[in-house]
Amino acid sequence: MKVAVFSTQSYDKQFFNLVNRGSNHEFTFLEVALNADTAILATGCQGICVFVNDKVDARTLEVLCQSGVKTIVLRCAGFNQVDLEKAKELKMSVYRVPSYSPEAVAEHAVAMIMTLNRKTHKAYNRVREGNFSLERLIGFNLHDKKAGVIGLGQIGVAFAKIMHGFGCEVSAYDPIVEKAPSFIKLVALDTLMSDSDLISVHCPLNEHTHHLIDQKRFDQMKDGVMLINTSRGAILNTHDAIEALKRGKLGYLGIDVYEQEAQLFFRDLSESLIEDEQILRLMSFSNVLITAHQGFFTTEALIEIAQTTLQNLNDADNDQPNANKLC
Ligand code: NAI
Repeated sequence: MKVAVFSTQSYDKQFFNLVNRGSNHEFTFLEVALNADTAILATGCQGICVFVNDKVDARTLEVLCQSGVKTIVLRCAGFNQVDLEKAKELKMSVYRVPSYSPEAVAEHAVAMIMTLNRKTHKAYNRVREGNFSLERLIGFNLHDKKAGVIGLGQIGVAFAKIMHGFGCEVSAYDPIVEKAPSFIKLVALDTLMSDSDLISVHCPLNEHTHHLIDQKRFDQMKDGVMLINTSRGAILNTHDAIEALKRGKLGYLGIDVYEQEAQLFFRDLSESLIEDEQILRLMSFSNVLITAHQGFFTTEALIEIAQTTLQNLNDADNDQPNANKLC
């Protein structure tokens, strides 16, 4: 199948070419993101491959359909960026990579916790400048702290295992999961909010989780709580998070995802004017750590993503049943 790969980065090319050896798919790598204006670039291709910030809305799907595209493969797990109803209506098939090394994202969430807590990013810079003072680097023991997990799926469970290993008391909220591993206590969301010393978000973005964490939720939390979001930006109300940081309610914030990330992430904007006032405000807090959607970014995960995407294309080509098919 001829496939246009939107939002291509160097590593996409590297891993897709690696796993594609010997297969009959032909990739056209495009750096531009997909939207209704760029969809025309897929003309001549039967498939497209997209990532988290490509816009696969109704207008885009119509242009793609008119250009002859029949198959859409997502090289990610979340599919909130795709209008599935419209895809169904246009008889286009959509596949995703539901799981690729959940440990990669879980470990990144833990890296954010450790950095915010023990301030290794500050210590690194200090020592390089010959500043060996420990002033303002004080952290806390994770041992015996209460860790709350929102969304007990693959990543949530992988995260919970690591926190359990640190000696944390782990609780989780998930409206669908009925049974959890013995070291995880399933609790109501209100309880998780009020009892946890640190909270990590691992649920998908949908109509129920949009701005799930807002001022009302911050009011329920302990003073000085740590919040980590490696899931999707819009689960957190950014305005309310900034207010919670300003009043000291939120003691630490680690985000790998951001509501308006589509305009910022996966690009080098170091020489550009950043107009997004909210991210600039977040960047001004010393207790906020922002990474640009790199939770998934390990060699193991990139290989799995490329292999599963290729399998999805094979199955689409051969009309084979596939559990990764969304429609
Ligand atoms: P999963 O589908 O295995 O688990 C999601 C869990 O969330 C499920 O157990 C589900 O029951 C639960 N859930 C659904 N609605 C909920 C709600 N309202 N409140 C609490 N829990 C709810 O998904 P997985 O693989 O664990 O991924 C979770 C999310 O992580 C993805 O949806 C994606 O947004 C994000 N992600 C981020 C990456 C990154 O690089 N930062 C990479 C991969 C995924």
